[in-house]
Amino acid sequence: MRVLGIETSCDETAAAVLTETGDRARPWAIASNVVASQSAIHREWGGVVPELASRQHVRDICGVVEKALSDAGVGLDELGAVAVTQGPGLVGSLLVGVSFAKALAWSRALPVIPVHHLAGHIESLTLAHGELPLPAAILVVSGGHTSLYLVPTPGAYRLIGRTRDDAAGEAYDKVARLLGLGYPGGPALDALSSRGDDRAIGFPSIRLTRADRNAPSDTSGGLLPPEVARRVDFSFSGLKTAVLRYVKDAQAHGDALPEQLVADIAASFQRVVVEALLDRTFEGARWLNARSIGIAGGVSANSRLRAEAVLRGRQCGLPVFVPPLSLSTDNAAMIAAAGLRRYRAGATTDWAFNAEASLAL
Ligand code: KG4
Ligand code: ZN
Repeated sequence: MRVLGIETSCDETAAAVLTETGDRARPWAIASNVVASQSAIHREWGGVVPELASRQHVRDICGVVEKALSDAGVGLDELGAVAVTQGPGLVGSLLVGVSFAKALAWSRALPVIPVHHLAGHIESLTLAHGELPLPAAILVVSGGHTSLYLVPTPGAYRLIGRTRDDAAGEAYDKVARLLGLGYPGGPALDALSSRGDDRAIGFPSIRLTRADRNAPSDTSGGLLPPEVARRVDFSFSGLKTAVLRYVKDAQAHGDALPEQLVADIAASFQRVVVEALLDRTFEGARWLNARSIGIAGGVSANSRLRAEAVLRGRQCGLPVFVPPLSLSTDNAAMIAAAGLRRYRAGATTDWAFNAEASLAL
């Protein structure tokens, strides 16, 4: 079967066609994967402007879907289902994709499968590498989320740890803006870091605040001992504030920061973020007896995160999987994959579903 995936949760209008292979170990093949980025529009404002994003999705969606079909060399008659991101995300943006997917599916009498955006990121790993050795510990690290999941069986996602405040990608974007690196900040900060000294500035390692440590909530739902459950939660606002203070102090002595200092700040910030992400992921994996580790979402494109994850995996004998760059940031191939997973698990069409800005997984 062929599935059309549609993704419009933030500032990328994306459509893709996936084909089932019949091979259980490597169930899906990408026939096309089209992404129209709006970053040039939002760059001017220093971040995503929701109203501009939804309007641009309306302009782009038809062309993007047509291109996905023509790149795949298939017509609408050859599709077996439509999968679409239901949430979480910007509600106006999500609505464009959901309305389009429903209308297309209805007009062709096709099933339509709503997909959770983070399930899409998780399935980008199977899409790229085939089924992972399970149970797997999967870190989803994006502009809106930093969450650690346990995948005990294909298609089951159990939340183990999450950020108590900012997402890692959000911290990247905010620090990049502070350093004048433009939008989106993550890739720019990543590139600049390679020219900086990552030990130049001793930003504090990431710890939860006392209030957070004492918070009763155990994200892992009892899967981890309470002490460990708290340790695998994330927090990035303290680090962000430390960078802000450092920059303000440095600027007090003159206007523009020297180029080398900006690179040093970037590299030092990146070292602390990557360490925090990997410490928690590997600790969670160890406690859960995971047989593999996956890292997905926009921040998984980060060069240091990718390199260090693989290195640590080698050191402790755990295979580590990251998606290729084309599947790290938002795309519709991963949404089609998660949709196919759900469809084959028996999901049926409920035409009443709607876009949900804070959909839970
Ligand atoms: O998954 P994604 O495309 O969209 C969301 O679901 O949020 O992730 C976007 C996030 C942005 O915060 C962006 O700055 C970050 O991923 N990002 C990176 C890199 N490439 C993208 N962060 C650090 N290093 C990168 N190379
Ligand atoms: Zn995403």
